[in-house]
Amino acid sequence: MTTIQFKHLLSAKDLSRDEILTILDTADSFKEISTRTIKKVPTLRGRTVVNLFFEPSTRTRTSFEIAGKRMSADVINISGSSSSTTKGEGLIDTARNLEAMAPDILIVRHASAGACNLLAEHIDCSIINAGDGTHEHPTQALLDMLTIREHKKTLDGPIRVVIVGDIAHSRVVRSNIYLMNTLGFQVTVVGPSTMIPIDMEKLGVQVSNNLEEAIQDADVIMMLRIQMERQNKNLLSSLREYSNYFCLTKERLKRASKDVLVIHPGPVNRGIEIALDVMQGPHSMILDQVTNGIAIRMALMYLLIGGSNESMD
Ligand code: CP
Repeated sequence: MTTIQFKHLLSAKDLSRDEILTILDTADSFKEISTRTIKKVPTLRGRTVVNLFFEPSTRTRTSFEIAGKRMSADVINISGSSSSTTKGEGLIDTARNLEAMAPDILIVRHASAGACNLLAEHIDCSIINAGDGTHEHPTQALLDMLTIREHKKTLDGPIRVVIVGDIAHSRVVRSNIYLMNTLGFQVTVVGPSTMIPIDMEKLGVQVSNNLEEAIQDADVIMMLRIQMERQNKNLLSSLREYSNYFCLTKERLKRASKDVLVIHPGPVNRGIEIALDVMQGPHSMILDQVTNGIAIRMALMYLLIGGSNESMD
């Protein structure tokens, strides 16, 4: 198995094609562990992983914890609300104090864009960005690539991806675009103009405000929720109007390619960005993405701190 040369995973932009494929191949090799009755291997025995989450999370925090535990690491969970940041301690001091307890990886989610990059300048142990503000969510983008490869059987060729929703506030979009550009996908982002940054084309994607036109023959459709918690002004006249134009319905889905994959990073707001019958229909890969999140996070921990190939056995 190949290794990777970097110490932190802060941005999907930093990953070369070979590195992306190495992470996906490693994740593939770890997937089988989660199908066993005894879901545990000794790969990271004696290693310590700290989950430091300053924002809510269901999928990311839990899958990092399960990933670490399935590889026998000691996993510690700290939430912002239970940490001494509530007493005024700053992010860097918090991380430096945790580092004094000798963890091998610090996994960080924070509301501020750039928080993980800042910590990487002050901390020696590996840092994985588990979502920083509207900036990036690289492990989500990697699990999305694993899901697409699993179902399309290849990442080669012009895979046509349409990403729909609150583009401006989505860290998932940014990380996905970086990986998809590196892999040569054709990406179109769709949403109301108020939710698409004006310089979006500079990221090498096409922009559309018309969902029905954009999803014509799409191979992958990624739906996003509206991130009300990150909006400081009202960008919509009403949710009902938004749904009228941008909800992925069964009728609209017929315009896409016949084996289109529908993905969504979660959490889903049923009936707003995606209809229930699409969410639970045959094209939906939403729960596959969650399953793949564990394998991707196992792979990253292994590649960052796991050491030699022998520890895989
Ligand atoms: N996709 C994702 O980041 O979900 P959570 O916020 O539940 O971790």
